[in-house]
Amino acid sequence: MTILLLGSGGREHAFAWKMLQSPQCKTLFVAPGNAGTAEIAKNININPTDFEAVKTFVLQEKVDMVVVGPEDPLVLGIYDFFKNDTELKDIPVIGPSKVGAQLEGSKEFAKEFLVKHNIPTAAYDSFTAETVEKGCQFLETLQPPYVLKADGLAAGKGVLIIQDLEEAKTELRNMLVHQKFGQASSKVVIEEFLDGIELSCFVLTDGKNYKILPTAKDYKRIGEGDTGLNTGGMGAVSPVPFADAVLLEKIETRIVKPTIDGLQKDGIEYKGFVFIGLINVKNEPIVIEYNVRMGDPETEVVLPRIKSDLVELFQAVANEKLNEVALEIDERSATTIMVVSGGYPEDYEKGKVISGIANIQDSIVFHAGTKLDNGNVVSNGGRVLAVTSYGNDFQEAIKKSYQNIDKLHFDKMYFRKDIGFDLL
Ligand code: AMP
Ligand code: GLY
Repeated sequence: MTILLLGSGGREHAFAWKMLQSPQCKTLFVAPGNAGTAEIAKNININPTDFEAVKTFVLQEKVDMVVVGPEDPLVLGIYDFFKNDTELKDIPVIGPSKVGAQLEGSKEFAKEFLVKHNIPTAAYDSFTAETVEKGCQFLETLQPPYVLKADGLAAGKGVLIIQDLEEAKTELRNMLVHQKFGQASSKVVIEEFLDGIELSCFVLTDGKNYKILPTAKDYKRIGEGDTGLNTGGMGAVSPVPFADAVLLEKIETRIVKPTIDGLQKDGIEYKGFVFIGLINVKNEPIVIEYNVRMGDPETEVVLPRIKSDLVELFQAVANEKLNEVALEIDERSATTIMVVSGGYPEDYEKGKVISGIANIQDSIVFHAGTKLDNGNVVSNGGRVLAVTSYGNDFQEAIKKSYQNIDKLHFDKMYFRKDIGFDLL
């Protein structure tokens, strides 16, 4: 098969690495990819949201399957674009339909779906510029901290958690009236704050059948001890040690199954990943968000723990026969540590020459923001490399990643030294 993978991060390098282990995958293109995918696949300079350019390439190279990494092309409707095009309609796209992608593209849509299908989630209400004063009154009925969520995609920055009531009202006005997050905050969901520990559950579905993938925990803050600004994710651990059989059973029966059944009941086509963000409140899992793609850096620990052929799984998704294939999981732990550019998630420099990757032993280096420049691998983003290791437990895996990170170097390189600290 010839496969086209869309995206350019650590998630996509991990997808490429895993799909190339399949005997089914003869040719793999990545658009646009990074220096890591360039080593193992063929990068092509196409923007994943330029559907006409994707179409031309798919027809020209006789691509047999398209796998979508990031959310933007999904929310913009790439699945429907293929389905409604006479030349593309038989080429499977791994990812949800445009309506399905609203689970991530609109917080209000996701909340309505959760409530409609009786899936546990925080109490909420949503507001627009016209109802901003009602929103302020609603805030007065809640206990601090206050959780404000821009309805649309805001590059992971659209959620504010605020202690002070007056500040929460000001921010609500900033979002709704002054368009703090542009169009994305023309509607705002105000939600009850949930106090607990976060984990993520990943599901692959063909719209009827599903497979629950290994759980993972992400470390979102830039600073040690979970302090400072939110990032895309600074490291991840899989499995999540506190996600025992009892909790997993609750997650499946109360959340995963009703989600997939809900998609079917609502007639929503969905052939891809559902990433369910959960907070474990006193051993009760509660949904805080859906994403319609895999997480990054969670993919860099989840895929290494899948022993089964990922391309076969994708074919089963496309053919709605996911119930006919087995999902085999590696019992070992996997951890990943993100190595980032100093200054990230605020301003940082790019183009720094990275050395030491060839000296890494017994870990896998997934490239995130990197590119090739005159034969050198140079940094090209905030998150630069993800160093993944296996271990009999997460401590052993983390130790290996840190030992290997010591061999890496680039100017102003930074990483958190405490990934997994809260799991001991
Ligand atoms: P989201 O984009 O919905 O994942 O929100 C970003 C982050 O905000 C999450 O990873 C949580 O840490 C936090 N968060 C979101 N919703 C809530 C909530 N209802 N209660 C507590 N924390 C939340
Ligand atoms: N690591 C969180 C995300 O991918 O959204």
